[in-house]
Amino acid sequence: MIAAETVRVVAPAKINLFLHVGAKRADGYHELESLVFFAKLGDELVFEPADEISLAVEGRFAEALSHDPDNLVLKAARALADDAKIRKGARITLTKNLPVASGIGGGSADAAATLRGLARLWDLQVMPERLHQIGQSLGSDVPVCIGSTPAWMEGRGEKLTRLDGFPQAAILLVNPGVAVPTGKVFAALKARRGIGLPLPPAMTTANELVAYLKNTANDLEAPAREIAPVVGELLDTLAAQPGALLSRMSGSGATCFALFENNQAAIAASRALNVRNPGWWFATSRIG
Ligand code: C5P
Repeated sequence: MIAAETVRVVAPAKINLFLHVGAKRADGYHELESLVFFAKLGDELVFEPADEISLAVEGRFAEALSHDPDNLVLKAARALADDAKIRKGARITLTKNLPVASGIGGGSADAAATLRGLARLWDLQVMPERLHQIGQSLGSDVPVCIGSTPAWMEGRGEKLTRLDGFPQAAILLVNPGVAVPTGKVFAALKARRGIGLPLPPAMTTANELVAYLKNTANDLEAPAREIAPVVGELLDTLAAQPGALLSRMSGSGATCFALFENNQAAIAASRALNVRNPGWWFATSRIG
């Protein structure tokens, strides 16, 4: 039975519409510049009162997490409890709808959702800046996932400028079933665009957004293609779909996306690709 105080939180998929990489810093991380949007789909987390912190994982990608008992959700829960100097527990259920190690946030979005959900369950008055700092200690993408709103991302991922009034677009996300660890992709990086772009101009239509994005790239695409050649094939296939405005990889991959004029075109492309690749993961959504 689910307790009355149950808190439910969605952890939306994060999409890097572009991702430029700059210099490697002394701490081993790279300077980044990225335009980040969130899809209207994601993992789901339920938090119930309990004496100890525990995690149960369900859903399509639960199995992929079973080898990592100390995943980011538990780390986030412990980090928040330590920060607040409290000894409270929670029974956490994560429904893993998003593929694991796939460039769309996954673990980072789950960690961010855990910070938000447990702050509510435990009735903590945590300042947003503090939540951001705890998030940063868990991973570069966690801070942007706390707000889950369109953002301009800089630094290692922690410097965020919220973007309002961005255009909506239909999106098709496809994961070809290969996990590519972020560290491995960064390590294989050769060419890069570098950073230094100004904030994007105000845009109102999907076509304006695509015109802007065509002057950008994901610097991690080339190394990800080398590690997992299927990424290159997937990007070409997505670009060739009727109505596709742009195809690109998100984060360090291997999930790729295409933006479409309308939902119907995105759904039609999803169906066409699914027939040929039944083992892949497909999701259509809207961004903006
Ligand atoms: O912060 P996170 O744990 O997600 O990063 C995973 C790995 O990705 C890091 O260990 C690092 O190798 C690489 N990375 C990077 N520069 C960033 C973010 C991640 O080099 N800004």
